[in-house]
Amino acid sequence: MITHRSYTVEPWAVRETRLDLDVLAQSESVFALSNGHVGWRGNLDEGEPHGLPGSYLGGVYELHPLPYAEAGYGYPESGQTVINVTNGKVLRLLVDDEPFDLRYGRLTSHERLLDLRRGVLERTCEWTSPAGSTVRVRSTRLVSLTQRAIAAVAYEVEAVDSRSRVVIQSELVANESLPGSDGDPRGSKALVSPLEAEEDVAVGHRLRLVHRTRRSGLRVAVAADHVVSGPERTTYAGESNVDVARLTVTSVLEPGEKLRVEKLVAHGWSAVRSRPAMSDQVEAALAAAGHSGWDGLLEEQRGYLDDFWARADVQVDGDEEVQQAVRFALFHVLQAGARAEQRAIPAKGLTGSGYDGHAFWDTEAFVLPLLTYTSPGAVAEALRWRHSTLPAARERAAQLGLRGAAFPWRTIEGSEGSAYWPAGTAAFHVNAAIADAVVRYTAASGDTRFEREAGTELLVETARLWRSLGHHDHRGAFHIDGVTGPDEYSAIADDNTYTNLMARANLLAAADACERHADRAAELGVDDEESAAWRDAAEAMYIPYNHELGVHEQHEGFTRYQRWDFAATGPDQYPLMLHFPYFDLYRKQVIKQADLVLAMYTCGSWFDEEHIARNFAYYEPLTVRDSSLSACCQAVIAAQAGHLRLAYDYTAEAALMDLADLEHNTRDGLHIASLAGTWTALVAGFGGLRRNGTGLCFAPRLPERFSRLAFSLQLLESRLRVEIGPDKATYTLLSGPPLTIKHHGTPVTVRADAPAVLVVPPAPSHPAPEQPPHRRPNAHR
Ligand code: BGC
Repeated sequence: MITHRSYTVEPWAVRETRLDLDVLAQSESVFALSNGHVGWRGNLDEGEPHGLPGSYLGGVYELHPLPYAEAGYGYPESGQTVINVTNGKVLRLLVDDEPFDLRYGRLTSHERLLDLRRGVLERTCEWTSPAGSTVRVRSTRLVSLTQRAIAAVAYEVEAVDSRSRVVIQSELVANESLPGSDGDPRGSKALVSPLEAEEDVAVGHRLRLVHRTRRSGLRVAVAADHVVSGPERTTYAGESNVDVARLTVTSVLEPGEKLRVEKLVAHGWSAVRSRPAMSDQVEAALAAAGHSGWDGLLEEQRGYLDDFWARADVQVDGDEEVQQAVRFALFHVLQAGARAEQRAIPAKGLTGSGYDGHAFWDTEAFVLPLLTYTSPGAVAEALRWRHSTLPAARERAAQLGLRGAAFPWRTIEGSEGSAYWPAGTAAFHVNAAIADAVVRYTAASGDTRFEREAGTELLVETARLWRSLGHHDHRGAFHIDGVTGPDEYSAIADDNTYTNLMARANLLAAADACERHADRAAELGVDDEESAAWRDAAEAMYIPYNHELGVHEQHEGFTRYQRWDFAATGPDQYPLMLHFPYFDLYRKQVIKQADLVLAMYTCGSWFDEEHIARNFAYYEPLTVRDSSLSACCQAVIAAQAGHLRLAYDYTAEAALMDLADLEHNTRDGLHIASLAGTWTALVAGFGGLRRNGTGLCFAPRLPERFSRLAFSLQLLESRLRVEIGPDKATYTLLSGPPLTIKHHGTPVTVRADAPAVLVVPPAPSHPAPEQPPHRRPNAHR
C-alpha cells in the first residue's frame, strides 16, 4: 500500500533506506521533530539540498496585508503567517576542500530513521567526494520533550580510507531564502526576510542571534553551545554577523578517526521581553540543557516517551502497515501538542508552513479527543490557549453584530485570518467544537479548576453566540440560517444538521455548567432567563429531515439539489476545488468531507441504528473526500453500520495520509488531524468508543484484517485497557477505582484483578454503499 518505497514497515520506526531527492520535501515533514513549542523539519544537517527549510516556534508569526479585489465590511485586514525562524540545525561539512553535498560525489549509503520510542532522528551515510575522499557521517537529532526550549544534534564524521582534512561549520542562520509558492491555496505565503537583526554573538563554543519580526513585533532568540571531540589537532573559531553565527571546527582525520560535535540549541520568543532578557532566557535554557548533557537529554526523552507509550500505545495485530502508521500518528500528534503550552496547535503542527501555520477546528474536533484520553494535560493547555483568545473572539462577534464570542476559522494569535468568508466566518461550527472539547475534557479529567477558570466561560460565550445567531420561527422552532458546516462544498446554508446538533449540545452544556458554578455564572452575567433561553433554543432546535427518502438532510433542502455530475468528472479533476468554481459546487449534491456523517458520530444519540445505516448509504456516494479530515469520520460510521471492510480501508487511508503522501501535499507539513483521526478510526470505529455523559461506551468489532486491537484510555483516576479479538473483548482496569462502562449497550463494571470478558456480537448486515467514481478509498485506488 505504501507507494513511497523508501520507507520500510517496522513497528516502532520509520526508516528511509536511500535518499530520494524527488521526495525530499515530503520526507522533511515525515521526519520533522517537534515538542509543540519548537519544530524542526527533517532537513538534512548540511542545510542543502533541501525541499523546504523549516524551523518554527509555536506562536511566532508575521502579519501581512490581505489583498481583496473587492473588500467588504468585516473582512479581516491582515493575515498571519508562520515564519521560518532562525535555523539552529545547520552543520555544514567540508571534506578536503569539497562541500559535503549529496548532489555531488558518490553516495554509497544513506539511511534515516525516526525512532518512535527514543524520540530521535538518526542518520548514517557514507559518501565519497568527487576528489575521492570517503567519509562516514552519523547524526542524531532531537527536539526535547522535557526541556521545551531545547533541540540538539550530535554530528560525527569519520575518515574511511584516507587521511582527510574536515571542517564542520555549525551555524545559526536567520532569514534563509525559501522556495516560492506553487499556487496551491493550501500552501503558505513565503515572506522574504521576515526577521530584523538585533544582536549577534559568537564567544568560545557559544553562538547567539536575536531578531525581531518587522510587523508583528515578536522577538526571537536562538543560542547554541557545543561540545567538540576529535583528534588533538582539532581547532575551532567563532564568528557572527547579522544573520549568521558560526562555529568552525577543523581537524585532520586519519582513517578510522572521528570528529564529533554535540550541538545544543535553545529557542525563545516573546512579544514583551527586552533583548537582554531574551538573551538571558536562551542562555539559561542552554545552561540547563548543558547540565543534562547530550546523554542526559537522550535519557529524559526516552523516559518521557516510555510514559507516553504506556498510556497511549495502540496495538494492531494482523496489519503491520497500520500498526506502524498509528504509532507514527500518535508520535506526531504528541509532538504537535505536548509542550504547546497555551499556544495554538496548528493543522500541520510545527512540521511545515502549510495553511500558513494556522490552527482550525482540527485542533478541538480531531486532535484533542486523542489527547483527552492519553495526555489530558496537553488538552487543558490547548483549551486555555483558546480561552486566552476570548477578547479577540468577543470583538469579532461584536463586529458581526452577534453576542458572545465568535472564534476564528483560522488563526495563529486569535484573530480571524480567513479572507474567504463563506468558508471562514460562516463556518461558525468551530465554536461548537471548542465547547464540545471543553465538555469532553472536563468529563474525562474531572478538572473542576479548569472548568471554573476557563471552561464555563468558553461554554457561556459560545452559547451566547448560538443564541444570537439563530432565531425561533413563528412555530417556535429554532433555526441557524446561512452558515457553513464541515462540508466546504456547501456554504451559507440554512440549518446545517451537524452545526445545529452541536450548537444544541453547546447550549445545554452551558446551561448545565452555569448550574454547577452559580457564582461563575453570576460573574459572567448569566441569569436564569438567559440560561432558560439557551435550553429553549436547544429543545426547539430544528433538524431537517427528508421524509420521502427517510434520511436526515445535511442542511435544509440539500437532498433536493441536483447531483454533481460524477460520471463527467475525471480522476485528475480532484480535488474539485482546484478545478471547479465554488458557486457550482455549492448548488449541487457533492460533499467535500464528512458532515452529516460526522454528526452521526459526534451526536450519535440523536440517530437510531436504522438511520445511521440509511444516512450513510445516502451520503457515501456523494462524498469525495477532498479533505483529509473525512476518511477517519467515514471509518467510524462505516464500522458502526457494519461495513467493516470499508471502515478498514478508510482507516488505512487516514493512517497512510502522510507516510504514503496520499494527497500529494505532505511536503507542506503533516496532516495532523488525519493522523489523530487514525486513532479515532481505530478506537471509535473498531472499538466503538462513544461518550455518554461522564461514562464511556464501547461497541467493538474487528475487520477481518485485524486479529487483535488493543488500546488504553485514561478516565478520571482510572486507566482502562481494552483488548478486542474477533469474538470477544476484554476490559481490564490497569489502575484506579472501578469503572462502569457499556459494552454493546450493556452496562459492565470493571474492577481491579477482574477483567470483564464479553462476547462481540455479529455486525449488522447492509448492502455495501457506493463511492463516487474514482473516489473509492485510497488503499484501492
Ligand atoms: C478542510 C477543513 C480543515 C482545513 C484544515 C480544509 O480542507 O475542509 O475542514 O479545517 O482543511 O485542515
